[in-house]
Amino acid sequence: MTASPAAPLSRIALYPGSFDPVTLGHEDVARRTLRVADRVVVAVAHSASQTRQPAFSVEERLEMLREVFSDEPRISCVSFQGLLVDFAEKIGAGFVVRGLRAVSDFEYEFQMAQMNREMRPGVEFLFLMPDAHLSFLSASLVREVARLGGEVDAFVSPAVLRRLRDRFGQADRGGR
Ligand code: PNS
Repeated sequence: MTASPAAPLSRIALYPGSFDPVTLGHEDVARRTLRVADRVVVAVAHSASQTRQPAFSVEERLEMLREVFSDEPRISCVSFQGLLVDFAEKIGAGFVVRGLRAVSDFEYEFQMAQMNREMRPGVEFLFLMPDAHLSFLSASLVREVARLGGEVDAFVSPAVLRRLRDRFGQADRGGR
């Protein structure tokens, strides 16, 4: 990554996250990123600050991501250890993409972006909004609803739905 604000950026975008699991909101942001990038690297962080036990291992999350984006050769999915800024530099990413759903996301994202910039002044962050109908969606809500037997078909791709059902059991369609 360049340290000069005037220098053009590489058109490789890094889209990092926990993706536990990947939702339609994440998918929307990754695909939208292709409007401004030639390639998107979706990266599952091993070292995301987890205050809870993840529902899926990093390997399982990666498998789901790869299935979900199997139709799009410009999106690749990897995992990374350590600092985001180091990984961004390693893969030659021009910028880091994060989804912004609502004002409530802003504070955390702003803090993280500024911290990353302190560590690596050349790092650029680009925030993209998912489609409005996905703006309420989060992986944590999907996990909770799935865990409690609710339907999450409208919020995740079939590959993810399958995994959620394997993990948490089939939702009771008799209505609960
Ligand atoms: O989907 P999430 O959990 O909001 O993603 C957070 C993530 C993975 C982007 C963040 O925790 C991260 O960048 N982790 C890598 C370690 C790192 O660089 N931490 C310092 C952040 S300022």
